[in-house]
Amino acid sequence: MPGFLEKMLVNLEQAKGLDKVAVPGTEAASRLVPKGPVKDALTGKWLGHPVHPFLTDVAIAFWTAGGVLDLLGTRHDKSAEVLTGLGIVSAVPTALAGVADWVDTIGEERRVGLVHAVGNTAALGAFTASWFARRNGDVSRGKVLGALGAGLLGFSGYLGGHLAYRLGSGVDRTIFDKRPQDWTPVLADEDLPEDSPVLAQAGETDVLVYRNSGDICAIHNVCSHRGGPLHEGRIDAEARTVTCPWHDSEFDLRTGEVVHGPASAPQPRFETRIHGGKIELREVQGG
Ligand code: FES
Repeated sequence: MPGFLEKMLVNLEQAKGLDKVAVPGTEAASRLVPKGPVKDALTGKWLGHPVHPFLTDVAIAFWTAGGVLDLLGTRHDKSAEVLTGLGIVSAVPTALAGVADWVDTIGEERRVGLVHAVGNTAALGAFTASWFARRNGDVSRGKVLGALGAGLLGFSGYLGGHLAYRLGSGVDRTIFDKRPQDWTPVLADEDLPEDSPVLAQAGETDVLVYRNSGDICAIHNVCSHRGGPLHEGRIDAEARTVTCPWHDSEFDLRTGEVVHGPASAPQPRFETRIHGGKIELREVQGG
């Protein structure tokens, strides 16, 4: 990696001055996208992955295709205009999904996310100006503005890659440990009270174990969203769910499924049995 890029990223991550905008920005955005079905839809509960990266492909595809047509000559001007407009329309849900992800970030992630958002907004502004210029018959100006938008998009896309691949934004936090595939004792049966979650260790894996009406549920204790400790969360005994103490993702204790986001990935779950006075568990393959 070129040194100047590394330096730029480190400076950006450490630029605490950005917090003056980023902190109130995430607070305002969290009021815009509160916990509920809209946030669940935007953060990807229905998809099992964050939605924002997937939607960016749509807008980028339209704008890239428009840019290629710009290079192919004037007979494609109308098509390039349509593609520019479609990119603008598809950028709206893309931006909303990005904002929904950003509200739960802190520190470096929040600062880089802010600059990523500013870059994307500038790119959207350039493409919008490009579309208006084309509509008004100034195609040359529209092409220049489109090229400017593509450059800005490349920069903000680079920051988006940094967020995902270097800072782990949106990465399922449960995927890195080796989970028990064979029956593994984790607790004495008598050490698991009714309706009170217990944190147990199964090899490398933290597991939340919970007993309710004779059933013993066990799911990965590290929240898939950003790593919150689920055993410190709120239990709903009737619904058999746990709510993460960090950003309120709610998981089904029996299945590990996401009931409410912002988490999009389910918690790995474990089947349990009592054997020789011990609670044993092993991972349920495939969910
Ligand atoms: S860490 Fe964000 S909801 Fe659990």
